[in-house]
Amino acid sequence: MSSRDQFTTKIGFVLAAAGSAIGLGAIWKFPYMAGSNGGSVFILLFIACIFFISLPVLIAEFMIGRRGQKDAVTSFKEQVPHTPWYMVGYMGMIMAALILSFYSVVGGWILSYLGRAVRFALKPAEGETFASLFTSIIQNPWEAVFVQGLFILLTIVIVQAGIKGGIEKASKFMMPALFIFFIILVVRSLTLDGAMEGVRFMFVPNWEFLTAKTFLLALGQAFFTLSVGVSVMITYASYLGKNENIGSAGINVAIMNILISLLAGLVIFPAVFALGYTPDQGPGLAFIIIPAVFEQLPMGGLFLIIFFILLLFATITSSISMLEIVVSIAIGDRKASRVRIAWIGGLLIFIIGIPSALSFGIWSHISIFGKSIFDAVDFLTNNIGMPLGALLISIFAGYYYRIEISKQELNTTNVMYYTWLALIRVVSPIAILIIFIQGIK
Ligand code: PFF
Repeated sequence: MSSRDQFTTKIGFVLAAAGSAIGLGAIWKFPYMAGSNGGSVFILLFIACIFFISLPVLIAEFMIGRRGQKDAVTSFKEQVPHTPWYMVGYMGMIMAALILSFYSVVGGWILSYLGRAVRFALKPAEGETFASLFTSIIQNPWEAVFVQGLFILLTIVIVQAGIKGGIEKASKFMMPALFIFFIILVVRSLTLDGAMEGVRFMFVPNWEFLTAKTFLLALGQAFFTLSVGVSVMITYASYLGKNENIGSAGINVAIMNILISLLAGLVIFPAVFALGYTPDQGPGLAFIIIPAVFEQLPMGGLFLIIFFILLLFATITSSISMLEIVVSIAIGDRKASRVRIAWIGGLLIFIIGIPSALSFGIWSHISIFGKSIFDAVDFLTNNIGMPLGALLISIFAGYYYRIEISKQELNTTNVMYYTWLALIRVVSPIAILIIFIQGIK
């Protein structure tokens, strides 16, 4: 165990976990999911799902990983030998690989945008809008696959460098910078004419959207955004020393995540209404609105470049966590080379992801259960794989750990401990089951 890499500091771990959590989920997906599902009601359900369902599972993953001190599969195998629990680790590995396969498509869009922003060429042609510019960029098959590959390449390069060298360093600087930048953008967006309409959209509930489907989507988002249910957080916590307080680490990660999501919403929705767009643009929303807001700023072109660089960092700190779980399980207890495995894993994920990249252009006619390839992989991972993984993890931590064990691991006040226990034993599993069955019908 001592030969295994570890995080050097607590803040390093929290930032890395927050780095995995905060990414496209908060900045790209949250606004467009909220935008297409009733705004305020989605946001309310999302926040409730985070605190009552997803955060307790996050803490459970930290517990399992820190106790195991090994990759997700071995952690289960050693803690509960001769049982099939280790399959949860393999399932997480497959889900994380699938998520990365479409996540990298969006990561690629950021590179495409960044490339144009650097040349100050991120402007729609005469008579066109930012919406049509977005469509024309993502439809080009060569560009889509090329930038997706480039994004995966960046991910591989960091993961092969290991925990201290790559992941911890990459996470440390980006988060504060991202916060500051978002605040500037929020101020600009809120001071646009007509911005209040967007604020109302986010905070005044329209109860008609209170349906099982919205609940399922909000739950999926709450899992996606905290990276839970796929054992990624088990993997990160396995690099954590015994003295850290995993409860407070979990709460920090959840709160930072909600803050960034709300800030992203406060940049996007006021601008959506002020600039005459509608909030239901789907996956293009952030890519359409953010450049449009920057256009309204002095030195907007320059700010746009910095913004996309930060967004790229936020995205990469998430993508490396997905590749990390694949690599750590593949290495296991063997003396296999991290570098080789990172390359092979990354390459496979790239190949699996190509259909998703093409599904916005030349393969847009292919549909799986009425969804595009991209949306189908997203749905499978986010609304089926992650809730299922989370359900199993809550049962494991809630019932398989004896109370003394989880109490010692959590190392907190009785009130906090028993709240967590009630959530993980009763609330999380039942809520996941109900929402899952209702939403999937
Ligand atoms: N939490 C990441 C985001 O919100 O962008 C996405 C993610 C990372 C999901 C890692 C799953 C995962 F295992």
